[in-house]
Amino acid sequence: MIASSPGKAIIFGEHAVVYGRHAVVSAINLRCYVKAEKSNDFRIISHFGKTGLDFRGEHAYISYAIKRFSESFSIRGVRIEVRSQIPPASGLGSSAAVTVATLGALNAEFEAGMDREEIFELARKVELDVQGIGSGTDPFVSTYGGGWIIPEKRKFSSNVEFGVINTGIESITSEMVRKVRELKEKYPELVERIMDSIDQVALEGARALENGDVTKLSLLFKINQSLLRAIGVSTPEIDRIVADVELSGHSAKITGAGGGGCLLTTGEGDFRIKLSAEGVRVEDFEDWREPYNRQV
Ligand code: PMV
Repeated sequence: MIASSPGKAIIFGEHAVVYGRHAVVSAINLRCYVKAEKSNDFRIISHFGKTGLDFRGEHAYISYAIKRFSESFSIRGVRIEVRSQIPPASGLGSSAAVTVATLGALNAEFEAGMDREEIFELARKVELDVQGIGSGTDPFVSTYGGGWIIPEKRKFSSNVEFGVINTGIESITSEMVRKVRELKEKYPELVERIMDSIDQVALEGARALENGDVTKLSLLFKINQSLLRAIGVSTPEIDRIVADVELSGHSAKITGAGGGGCLLTTGEGDFRIKLSAEGVRVEDFEDWREPYNRQV
């Protein structure tokens, strides 16, 4: 059986959300597809290669997903094949999407009868198994789909589309989070005020998204990017890209941890994303076919 689940984008509020402020996140119309087939042993096949259970390598999320699933439902073996449209290590939630889609495919193949909440709970455990820490936002959005204002988990919907610019620079979320924490320890009042400003941007951003107010969104992107730069998660390369976008009359901001990864833009970007996407679902096709086998 094949299941799929979406990637996500943080539209406003990254980093400040770590300190209890608001963030606006949404599932996006790029999906990860996972096929699970009963087998006598364990095989994992993706564009990273072919492995068995591989808890420390490229297939860590899938391996832990199988482990967590098999704690509740005994299985002899499974062959897992992955096709993903989501660029890895770029802040678009590819790890959570592959985790949730794997659990969705196992659930369908072994007729385990888990509902979305149970899939989310297992995906949350897998995130902690692999990363040690994590807010749970990515597996939540990937499981349920749609747009969310957190920490309240209030739903929003928006027809606005954005462009995505992939800097091609890999960044490690935990390192960026640590960098911000160090700055905050050194200059607590200063950084608290920046976090409060990001909070205000996120709240106004959620309203602008719901109203489709692109002019306001463009302004809020500029403000949020400047605040992210102020807390040290932009880079000279990112600043240059943002300046080029602004020269063309649009705006751009980091999405996710920064230091590299992807930028959202009100302009065209490398590709476009929509902010409405269904959460984890079982597909009605049993084998790969276009366009689901597009790889990035
Ligand atoms: O780049 P990502 O998708 O891992 O997002 C990180 C978002 C942070 O706010 C920087 C950290 C977090 O856990 O919320």
